[in-house]
Amino acid sequence: MLTKTLVFALLSVESAWACTGTISALTDVAAAVACTIVNVNSFTVPAGQSFTLNLLAGTTVNILGDITFGEKQWGGPLFSITGSNVTFNGNGHTFNGNGQFYWDGKGSSSGATTKPRVSYQGQTSGTFSNLVVLNSPAQVFSVDNAAPLTISGVTIDDSLGDQANSLSAGKPAGANTDGFDVGNQAPLTVTGWCHRQNQDDCIAINSGTSITFTGNHCSGGHGISIGSIDTGDVVSNVTISNNIVSSGANGLRIKTIATATNASVSDVTYSGNTVSGVTGFGLLIDQSYPSTLGTPGSGVIISGINFVGTNAFTIPAGVTPVAVNCGSGSCQGTWNWAGLKVSGGSADEINYAGITGFSESD
Ligand SMILES: *[C@@H]1O[C@H](CO)[C@@H](O)[C@H](O)[C@H]1NC(C)=O
Ligand SMILES: *[C@@H]1O[C@H](CO)[C@@H](O)[C@H](O)[C@H]1NC(C)=O
Ligand SMILES: *[C@@H]1O[C@H](CO)[C@@H](O)[C@H](O)[C@H]1NC(C)=O
Repeated sequence: MLTKTLVFALLSVESAWACTGTISALTDVAAAVACTIVNVNSFTVPAGQSFTLNLLAGTTVNILGDITFGEKQWGGPLFSITGSNVTFNGNGHTFNGNGQFYWDGKGSSSGATTKPRVSYQGQTSGTFSNLVVLNSPAQVFSVDNAAPLTISGVTIDDSLGDQANSLSAGKPAGANTDGFDVGNQAPLTVTGWCHRQNQDDCIAINSGTSITFTGNHCSGGHGISIGSIDTGDVVSNVTISNNIVSSGANGLRIKTIATATNASVSDVTYSGNTVSGVTGFGLLIDQSYPSTLGTPGSGVIISGINFVGTNAFTIPAGVTPVAVNCGSGSCQGTWNWAGLKVSGGSADEINYAGITGFSESD
């Protein structure tokens, strides 16, 4: 009897681990996520509903077809995923957010339409790879992983949002289509990321530690950002390496909110990055956000901002290559910028004396 029960129990555990769930409609999700292999076929997520994968630890997700999200003004998210040690294989398939239905040039906060986020969130860890996100209504990924997570080979394509429409008064219809908002609690690596013509930050690191952003390509938009840093936010140990920013407003940016207190940005290393074709700044470190080069606050401590190897900026005529606007006493220590090479552009605007090794090669 005991043996029988034990065998039955073992079989139950075995079947939960070994089964393969298949999703071909939203109604399949609940049963499929009881398995640790989840195959997702092409389907349309009904308007106003979320495609939510709350996965068992160690689950492998295989996306086997394109997913389209129905059109409705609501808060979203369109997609979310949680689970530890998850392997998500996008296999090059597309999640189509149908952003053109929502875009009005005004973005997420002040728009006439409510725009759902596409979202990758929660206590997710493991790997997430090879997905294309097309036409996102607003922000795309938010990440707050509690254990190590690597995101690779993800493309966001909002190039259609660069065009004006009947609601956008001549401006690009897409807005606030941030690629990536990070507030992680454990190491995060993002690599092989490609953001085509987004209309906001390529990546925005709002808080977190041990973050590596390497080998990515951002075009259009506001560049690779740390911030906006607000009260209580801590960002530390960030490596931003071998990325290409090929157009848009800014290349690299650290922005802290002028009124913020009890916050810090420390140990940020830039290496091997290339910035060209920007219209605002090559590098902007600004403590006056939301103003640009306004009166800086001094409640966010910035330290250990270094450029190593070769970071090459090719800046168009009339554009400021480097601007640093620190508050009183809030930028600290020596920053070694020997690895920053700038050509072109107008004069730099730097108010911090702790920077060494930086020489323009005009
Ligand atoms: C993660 O999941 C894989 C199966 O996908 C498993 O082999 C591995 O042991 C798990 N690792 C941890 C740390 O749980
Ligand atoms: C900094 O981040 C790297 C990459 O995640 C990690 O290997 C290293 O241990 C971290 N260092 C500290 C001091 O946290
Ligand atoms: C400062 O921020 C940290 C989080 O980074 C928080 O734990 C702490 O309570 C804050 N201190 C004050 C005085 O607000």
